[in-house]
Order: sequence, then structure tokens, then C-alpha cells
Amino acid sequence: MVKIVPLPPVLAHTDGAAALQAQFAHPLKAVDALIAQRLASPVATIPEIGAHVIRAGGKRLRPLLTLASAALCRPEAEPPIKLAAAVELLHTATLLHDDVVDGSEKRRGLPSARARWGNAASVLVGDFLLGQAFKLMVESASPEALPVLANAAAVIAEGEVMQLLTAGKVDVNEDAYLRVINAKTAELFAAAARVGSLSAGAAPNAQEALAAYGRNLGIAFQLSDDALDYDRHARLGKNWGDDFREGKMTLPLILAYHRGDTKERRFWQAAVARPRKSKASLNQAESLVLRHRALADTLARAAHYAAIAQDALRLFPPSPGRTGLMRLAGFSAARRH
Ligand code: IPE
Ligand code: IPE
Ligand code: MG
Ligand code: MG
Repeated sequence: MVKIVPLPPVLAHTDGAAALQAQFAHPLKAVDALIAQRLASPVATIPEIGAHVIRAGGKRLRPLLTLASAALCRPEAEPPIKLAAAVELLHTATLLHDDVVDGSEKRRGLPSARARWGNAASVLVGDFLLGQAFKLMVESASPEALPVLANAAAVIAEGEVMQLLTAGKVDVNEDAYLRVINAKTAELFAAAARVGSLSAGAAPNAQEALAAYGRNLGIAFQLSDDALDYDRHARLGKNWGDDFREGKMTLPLILAYHRGDTKERRFWQAAVARPRKSKASLNQAESLVLRHRALADTLARAAHYAAIAQDALRLFPPSPGRTGLMRLAGFSAARRH
């Protein structure tokens, strides 16, 4: 008889991002310096908004993925600073645009750019950052990264539009949700890791492994983000319950709706369609999401994708770099911020 050995649990590294940030502190500093330099413009509003959003913090996960993937494939290679900066600028541009789309008031613990400077300025400065990102890609020593990141930029926009079309529609299913997060979030994580490996001249199977790692980590990351949005004790630097307020069909809501009775479904339908939601209805949403284990199961799915990400890395021999990336995958599912 085959003895079934239980699989090891996903490493629950709540500090997995901090460890990698420390490991790559030096090149990350260079990335930040390069970004600061590329925010310069004689049009004062551009560096003002750019500095506001960049200096507000951010975990720098995507440039870290680029740097760490390159180092995993060729430890002695020059770190791909320009590519990593391009990846973070692309991400920041999508955040500026996303906060306009979502009407969000807070980002990285501060008022969002749109809350302070308005929607029009946020969209336009987002476009400026995109332009600067593409300039850096062209300047980088890895021209083959350009189509990968250009494709990611287009796919992110597709994902955001797909999400726009599902907003307020309670009968969206988990499959459709996964397609959205794959496009709006996981594509950039996959591309960030892939271009790191490209810059290191990695073999195609190593590139594919890192892209798969990035994609699955990205899915885990967005799933946990969507769970934490319903968790009033989380420290995301965004407002608790924003997704519900916006009528966004994320997995906690989708699961609670599917598992709810007729009365509860009526609540979700009415709440999601209503543009302004009361505190009482947010409390009610929280309690339904908890009662139906919708948060716990969203996090369980995040752990599942994080485990897939970790397994993709097993193609590489054990090394401190591999361990760092494994822990980052653990963080993406187990994080509180
Ligand atoms: C926010 O990403 C957007 C999502 C995909 C949920 P991050 O949580 O990585 O944002 P920063 O860069 O750390 O602020
Ligand atoms: C983040 O999406 C933006 C992109 C991935 C393009 P969300 O709207 O889900 O994330 P937050 O909550 O604003 O960070
Ligand atoms: Mg948003
Ligand atoms: Mg959004």
C-alpha cells in the first residue's frame, strides 16, 4: 500500500518581503535613485505627484523579483537596475490609474494622488511614468525585455477593463475572477521575474520557471490582498472595505454570495448595486464573509498558489537566493500588510 506523506505546508513567512528587501538593499537603493532621477520634469506637478507616490513607500516587490530572479540565474551578473526601475514605474503608473478607476482615497498610507491633485492629474502623471518606464526598457542592456513588459502593460489594462465590466454583477464566478487577477496583477509579477532571468541570459526552462513562479505568486498576492480588504485589522495602507464600497466582485464576496441563502443574496445584490454604502452594510458584509468562511477560504487558495510558485522554483538548486524567493511566495499568502 502507498503511504501518503503529507505535503509540507507553505512556508508562512510573514517577513519574507523584509528579508528579500534586506538582501537586495543595495541595488534597490540604486533603483530608487534612478526612479527619483526620472521623475524630473520642468512641469512641477509631475515631480510633485511622482515624489508623493514613490516616497510614500511601497514594498518594491516587483523590482525585487527582477533583481532576485537575475541573481538566481547568474549571481555574478550586474544587477538589472534599469529594468527593475522600469518595472516599478510601470506598477506605480497602474496604481495612479487604478485609484482613479476605483475612486480610492488612500494609497500607501497617505491620501491617494487623486485625492490630493484630482483625477485628471493622476491619469496624466501615470502616463508620464509609463513613458519613463518604456524609455528605461529601451536603454536597458536587455532589449528582449521590451516586448515582455510592453505585453504586460497591455494585459494589465485588459484586466482592469475586465474588472470594470464585472463591477456590481453579483453572479460573477470564481473562474472569471481568476482571469481578472491573472491579467491585472499576475502578469506583471510574471514579467518582472522573466525579465530578470532574461537579463541574466538564462536558459528558456529557467525563464519559464521564473515566469511561472511570478505568475502564481502574483495570484496568491492578489487573493490575500482581496481577503485583507475585508479584514479591519489588516495594515494595507488603504481603507478597510474599499472593495465592498466599490461593488468590486472579489473572491470573498463571490464565495459569500454563492454560499449565502436567498435573504443574504438579496443583501449582496442590493448592496453591490448601491453607489453609497452605509457603515452598517459594511459590517453586515464583514459578518457574512466571516460566517461563510469566505475569508479563510480565499487565504487557503492564496496558500495553494504560493505553493505552486514555490514548486516552480525547485528547478533551481538550493541557494540563499532560492530560499529568499521561496519566502517571498510564503509572504504573498500569509502577509498582513
Ligand atoms: C498593490 O500592490 C496592487 C495590488 C496588486 C494589490 P502592492 O501591494 O505591491 O503595492 P505597493 O507597491 O507595495 O504599494
Ligand atoms: C490594483 O488592483 C491595481 C492593479 C493590479 C493594476 P486593485 O484595485 O485590486 O488593488 P488596490 O486595492 O487598489 O491596491
Ligand atoms: Mg484599487
Ligand atoms: Mg482596481
